[in-house]
Parts: sequence; structure tokens; C-alpha cells
Amino acid sequence: MRVVLGVSGGIAAYKAALLLRLLTEAGHEVTVVPTAAALRFVGEPTWAALSGRPVATDVWTSVHDVPHVRLGQEADLVVVAPATADLLARAAHGQADDLLTNTLLTARCPVLMAPAMHTEMWSHPATRANVALLRERGVSVLEPASGRLTGADTGPGRLPEPEEILDAALSLVAGEDRSSAVDTAARPDGLEDGGVSPAEAAAAQGSLLGRHVVVSAGGTREPLDPVRFLGNRSSGKQGYALAEVAAARGARVTLVSANAALPAPPGVDVVGVETALELQEAVRAAVPGADVVVMAAAVADFRPRDYQGSKIKKTHGPGQEASAPTIELVRNPDILAGLVAERGDDPAPLIVGFAAETGDDTGDVLTHARAKLERKGCDLLVANEVGRDVTFGKDDTLVHLLRPGTDETRTVGPATKVAVAGAVWDEVGQLLSARPHVGAGR
Ligand code: CTP
Repeated sequence: MRVVLGVSGGIAAYKAALLLRLLTEAGHEVTVVPTAAALRFVGEPTWAALSGRPVATDVWTSVHDVPHVRLGQEADLVVVAPATADLLARAAHGQADDLLTNTLLTARCPVLMAPAMHTEMWSHPATRANVALLRERGVSVLEPASGRLTGADTGPGRLPEPEEILDAALSLVAGEDRSSAVDTAARPDGLEDGGVSPAEAAAAQGSLLGRHVVVSAGGTREPLDPVRFLGNRSSGKQGYALAEVAAARGARVTLVSANAALPAPPGVDVVGVETALELQEAVRAAVPGADVVVMAAAVADFRPRDYQGSKIKKTHGPGQEASAPTIELVRNPDILAGLVAERGDDPAPLIVGFAAETGDDTGDVLTHARAKLERKGCDLLVANEVGRDVTFGKDDTLVHLLRPGTDETRTVGPATKVAVAGAVWDEVGQLLSARPHVGAGR
């Protein structure tokens, strides 16, 4: 396969050298197109040696060969890694001020961009709008990873690992990315063939511009007395990643957060809650007018029947030294099933459930997940494999995405929770594209 590897000017350019090695080792013919700024981070000899080919650095070299047109026309795949905020902006606006942007304008093959920049730049409305525009036009833009950035700061903005970029690129070429098909400018009325509006087409590609989404995250705590509670191991990382990615894709996001010790993602409204009943109330308050509700929180199914206003003591009186209290539990409401029931026949909101599952004697993870999807009646179920030291509190996770009415299952991972969030929103975008726009303009 003929691959153009565009490299723009960020510190993560050094990681593109590893990606280049993976691509060439897999037998692809790779032409590296670094921007002038990229060459300040990693020099031309490195790209030439690793690709085994001349490096295309500007439009003025080998002009007889018309490189600014030929490279894009002949490519089977263009990957830009890292894609800086500046490169995304130039590409989104169709500029052709260097060889890489010329190549992007002439390419008719799949194009994958792997952004890397500081969190503030990634979450800036200008960058979000540029990413949404690129996605609308069929460019596949990866979510950046979360973690240590150039300085001492951390957050979303890291270049995904070269292996992940390679995987995404190969899937894209295999037609597994939904962001490759649509050109909304193709029809003067702005409608896709089949009467799909640009907003719907954008949603089909994972853009959430103008949508309102509600995400619950974390784990509820059910108090026994002023110092003790029944809780669970959920860290909230997956729900926070969902909120962060939704905001980055242009959505207005309400994050109902149960006891998660995590910083608020940029641009997200966080409502803090403790118990299942509080979580239910906060989600219900946020739902009117929302396009999507994602129940990623681990909600306690039971709570102590009685709350003791003062600390429960080991002993209560003479002769009780060896006794232990019995704690009576009562059922909490099933919030997810309640949302589905309250929605009735309305198409909105689209409701996404999570299922933390382990296999057992009665069935494997997928069997249990399918039964849960049926029971809950939601539109998409994200089944986590838990146990085996995976998922809770970890940065990587493996999920299966299940829809009602089909046995088709999409498996994502092991991947970062941000990458999983991207896959969930892709799936949601597809489902939304078939539904009316509720949250717009609010
Ligand atoms: N959920 C909910 N209200 C509850 C329990 C769970 O809304 N009282 C939601 C969770 O947020 C999740 C989904 O239901 O989206 C599945 O949660 P899970 O704990 O896996 O399922 P349960 O319904 O509790 O079923 P079980 O414990 O029997 O597996």
C-alpha cells in the first residue's frame, strides 16, 4: 500500500518515527511529508533512513514531478501523526500553504489524523469546530490519549501509541471507519442522498455538535451511619472519558458524578451526587431535552433500610460484646430501566447502558450482556469484562457494544478508556443520525 505519513510540528513527532517503522516493517511504501516545523523536532535524515525513500519536504523540490498533486492522488492512505492544532485548522479550512496541506486536498483515499497538543488547545472551541468539520468531510480524527504531556501537566492531548494509530489506519482502509463516506457539499440543498441533513450526517460520523448529552459516572455510596457506607470499586474513569470526548466532539455535556475523585473535564457541567436516589434525581432533572443519556455509573442495587444518625458502636450494652448488627437492605430503583419506561414511545433520549459482567457457569460475558440488554430495554449496551484484574480503576479496558435486534457485536480494546469512549460515541452517532435532533439550540 502507498502511504503518505504527514508529520506536523509537535514534540510527538518522535513517536511518528516509530509509526513509520511499523508501517515499513508491514511492507508498506511510505513517503514521509514533514512540515517545516516538524523538521525542527526530527530531521530529514531520520525520515529518509527509516522510510528508505526520499523525504518530500516542500512544493518547490522536484517541481517537474508535480509533488503537490501527485503524492495525494497516488496514495492509498494518508496518516497525519501528530496532527497539531495548527495543522487541523489549516486542513479544516482547505488551505494549501505547504506540501502536506496540498497533499490533503488532492488525496481521495482514506485520511487518518492523530491529534497531539495540550489539553487547552484540544478543548478550545476553535479546535473542536475544526475537528467536527474534518469529520463531517469524512476525515477520521482519532481521540488523543490522556496522560503526561510535554511539561509536568497531564490530560487529554497525548498522541495515541504508534500501534494504536497503525490499527486505526488499517481498520480505516478495511472500511471499518464510518467517517469516510460523506460529502455534505455534494448536494445544493445540503441533504445527503436519502434526505439526511448535514447535522444527521455529522452525527453518523461521531460529531455531537449541537447535541445535549447526559452521562452518569462513578459509584454510588449508600450510607449506614455518618462514617460508613456501602460502595463499589468504580473509579468513574470511563464515564469521565465519555464526558470529555463528548464535549470535545461539540456536545453540551452534563456529567452526574457519584464520588469520583477526578478533575472536571474541560467544558463539562458536573453535578456531584452520593447515593443512588440522588443520582436518579440528578439524571432525571437533566434529561428533559437531552439527546442521549449514558448510564456509566455503578449504581448500588440495595441500600440500608435505616440510616443511623450516630456512629454504630461495636457494643451497645452489657452482654452484647460478641454481637454484630444485622443490616437490613432495601432495593434501590433501577434508574436505567426507569428512564426507558418513562421515555415510552418517544424516540428521545437515546439511552445507553453499561454492564459490568464476568462469565460464570450459566453463560459467558456476552450471554449475560445480551440478557441484560433485553431486560433493560436500552438502545445500546456497553458490556465491560470485569474481574481478571481488568477494568475497575485501570486505564485500559475491553468492551463489547451490543444493540437490540441484532446479534452483531462490536468489540473494542483492550484500549484506553478515551479510545473506548470514542467508539461508543461513534456508535451513538450512527443511532442518532436516524433520530430527530432534540437538544439543538438549547
Ligand atoms: N443501573 C441503574 N440502576 C441500578 C442498577 C444499575 O440504572 N439500580 C444501570 C447502570 O448504570 C448500568 C446498567 O444499569 O448502566 C447495568 O448495571 P449493572 O450493575 O451491570 O446491572 P444490574 O441491573 O445491577 O444487574 P445485575 O447486578 O443483576 O447484573
